[in-house]
Amino acid sequence: MKNTVVVGAQWGDEGKAKITDLLAQKADMVIRYQGGCNAGHTVVYNGETYKLHLVPSGILYGNKICFIGAGTVILPEYFEQETNELKERGINLLNLKLSPLATITMPYHTEVDGWAEDTIKKGKIGSTRKGIGQTYTDKMARCALKVGDLFDEETLSEKIDIILPLKNKILKEVYGLKEYSKEEILGLCKKYKKIFEPYVCENWQELLYTCKNKTILFEGAQGVMLDIDYGTYPFVTSSNPIAGGASTGSGYGPSMINEVVGVSKAYLTRVGEGPFITELSDETGKKLREIGHEYGTTTGRPRRCGWFDAVITRYAALVSGLTSIALTKVDVFDDFDEIKICTAYKDIRNGKIYNHYPTNVFIHKYLEPVYETHKGWKTKLSDIRNYNDLPQSCKEYLKRIEELAGVPISIVSVGPDREQTIFI
Ligand code: IMP
Repeated sequence: MKNTVVVGAQWGDEGKAKITDLLAQKADMVIRYQGGCNAGHTVVYNGETYKLHLVPSGILYGNKICFIGAGTVILPEYFEQETNELKERGINLLNLKLSPLATITMPYHTEVDGWAEDTIKKGKIGSTRKGIGQTYTDKMARCALKVGDLFDEETLSEKIDIILPLKNKILKEVYGLKEYSKEEILGLCKKYKKIFEPYVCENWQELLYTCKNKTILFEGAQGVMLDIDYGTYPFVTSSNPIAGGASTGSGYGPSMINEVVGVSKAYLTRVGEGPFITELSDETGKKLREIGHEYGTTTGRPRRCGWFDAVITRYAALVSGLTSIALTKVDVFDDFDEIKICTAYKDIRNGKIYNHYPTNVFIHKYLEPVYETHKGWKTKLSDIRNYNDLPQSCKEYLKRIEELAGVPISIVSVGPDREQTIFI
């Protein structure tokens, strides 16, 4: 296998964890490059289900180096809980390495996130309440604490003196929230240091040099449509899930990346607020949710469901430079008479057809999907392992997706288990 990025090609929850897990078999190192514990990756390994948030799924193999890169944000209590649970279940964490450049989510970040979710009515994001946006905001505003800061007392004290007066002013005057004393922050940092100590990799550069000629899998969280620059802004997360984020977030330059696998569901889902042109608010949407078990891994929220949107896939192929697509949950359609694919959007105000994704999401309320309808296969796919054994109408559906996206499908997933996979 060549060095590969696994990226969500929709709004997250595409089944990246299974694909990452499959590809990790052939990798020496797995790097998580962005996001935080807003992500929820469900992996079935040896018949057991693991729900991972920050730890790369390659950890379950025991022999892969798993690196959490500089592009991530870490909520210490969640990291502690996740690593403890894995240890209790007998997973070896000796190869788990955390970048000292990763940014720490402080309690005031989650407090402000919760405040915004509870207070803002118009334009609410529907975040995971994990302080993601607030942590990245501080990172970009150059007033965040990094994991490495915890390991140098003088730096930590100096940084807190700079950050805290500003934070307290905002917490009190803008949000009416509790202020923090330096002692409180130092106390928290002492606790965090203990949590991170076994994993933090001060010599991360050496680690990256050592692994340079090995096989690397870059694991993205969320998806292209939640990207801060290319997603449905402002209804996005605050990092770069697109393949370019693999470079900035891992510490390896773009020349280290050879392949980009875009993971797409055979239909679409979204959690949280924001436009969703092919959303189905009817019985078909309910059917997709029930058959596909579409409830959030992190928050348990029911996911909004809709038909496959080829406009989005084509867009994802462009902005993430997809070299192939892994199409997941194709078996969810086994019982459907008809399956639709959205090929373009039509503006109901003037009939204008959009073949490319209109990035101004405030006009999406005027857009309706242009569909083509495909015949369902009415066959159980979950036991099929070879492309040639797929029903003809399923093959035609896959071919059409390839044609519309302009990218070949390399993997078809027909169930949650590793074996329920067809490689093309
Ligand atoms: P945040 O990342 O918690 O700030 O949430 C911003 C938006 O991204 C919300 O609509 C969330 O529901 C969505 N989001 C964040 N992480 C994920 C994920 O892992 N899967 C799906 N949606 C996500």
